[in-house]
Amino acid sequence: MWGKHRKRQWIGFYCGAYLAAVLTIIGLSGLFMHFNEKGPMNAGHENILCDDCHQKAPGTIRQQLQARVGYLLKARKTDVVFGHLPVSNQDCLVCHERPNDPHPVYRFIEPRFAETRKKIQAQYCATCHQEHRGERITNDTQFCRHCHERLVLKNDPLDISHAQLIEDEKWPTCLGCHDYHGNHVYQIPRETTKMIPELEVIRYFKGFPTPYSKDKKHEPKKRR
Ligand code: HEC
Ligand code: HEC
Ligand code: HEC
Ligand code: HEC
Ligand code: HEC
Repeated sequence: MWGKHRKRQWIGFYCGAYLAAVLTIIGLSGLFMHFNEKGPMNAGHENILCDDCHQKAPGTIRQQLQARVGYLLKARKTDVVFGHLPVSNQDCLVCHERPNDPHPVYRFIEPRFAETRKKIQAQYCATCHQEHRGERITNDTQFCRHCHERLVLKNDPLDISHAQLIEDEKWPTCLGCHDYHGNHVYQIPRETTKMIPELEVIRYFKGFPTPYSKDKKHEPKKRR
């Protein structure tokens, strides 16, 4: 009889420890966090609904906890509001699909970009577009350097060659002529005198109007 009692005590102990661990995780990670706006919406998103990006979690509490633990263990890029799924690339692409994108996020999941991913996580929209900052682009103007440092054009059309610009580490000039997603309709200049100045690119990043062109090859959807 004594043995059975002892066994029950142990079961109780393990259940208690398990519960404590679970509660610590939930507690730490903000079960009591309210789904309030985190900060001003980014440029262009003023009229987008919360649910357009923050999908309600269909999963069980256990699955939601797994998502949260995944985030805490760095397996996920974005945190999750309890009861909501973490916002993923797919939530952005629903409205922003651009078949002509020369830098599509999925390309950088490929194994050949393993080294690149250590330098820049170009496989996530969130790397350059964190939301709730009231901005448009949250990365710097020099990130091209992580991937194009060995670029040489056979017949370089520029007055100062790409190779020279790169040797002189003029990384902010890249965005002075090229947009990243290739979605703006405009003529790429060949003279460095016709570049968009870095300051204007930065202003665009912060939320001011586009210096490239208002015409886009693919307009975003307004509703999910
Ligand atoms: C355009 C997509 C988008 C919309 C619309 C949006 N959010 Fe977010 N939200 C995000 C992303 C992405 C994150 C993750 C953190 C980041 O990228 O800065 C986030 C993070 C959050 C967080 C912090 C918790 C966390 O998971 O990091 C809260 C709270 C939040 N959003 C609430 C809201 C509310 C309330 C609305 C509506 C007023 C809203 N969001 C609209 C994309 C969006
Ligand atoms: C419901 C559809 C929808 C979703 C979801 C959505 N967007 Fe948008 N987004 C828009 C619209 C509409 C605009 C405004 C475009 C304009 O003003 O020309 C916009 C604007 C933007 C802009 C600025 C574009 C510009 O030219 O000024 C960026 C950057 C952006 N979204 C990134 C994202 C990212 C990253 C996500 C995912 C976290 C996301 N969007 C989710 C519809 C959406
Ligand atoms: C490595 C950085 C980086 C990543 C990753 C990235 N972007 Fe961008 N994005 C930029 C830069 C820089 C610009 C400004 C130049 C331009 O307009 O192409 C921009 C511009 C935009 C614009 C406005 C121009 C347009 O194409 O309409 C939208 C919308 C946008 N990004 C959405 C996204 C979405 C959605 C994702 C994920 C699928 C994403 N971006 C991933 C850097 C990035
Ligand atoms: C994460 C790596 C990465 C980053 C960061 C990156 N690129 Fe690229 N880029 C690539 C790859 C890969 C290609 C495709 C090359 C190929 O197909 O040979 C490419 C192609 C291009 C092209 C040719 C597009 C076309 O239509 O053929 C241009 C222009 C370009 N990148 C400019 C830029 C600029 C400007 C930046 C910074 C704002 C930048 N890239 C940042 C990896 C990157
Ligand atoms: C003065 C404007 C200008 C500047 C500055 C500039 N480019 Fe270019 N770039 C061009 C033009 C023009 C082309 C040729 C486009 C074409 O023929 O379609 C080109 C072509 C490219 C290509 C395509 C090469 C290929 O194989 O087709 C890549 C990649 C590229 N540039 C990346 C960059 C990077 C990275 C930087 C920054 C170091 C940069 N560019 C700076 C104007 C510029």
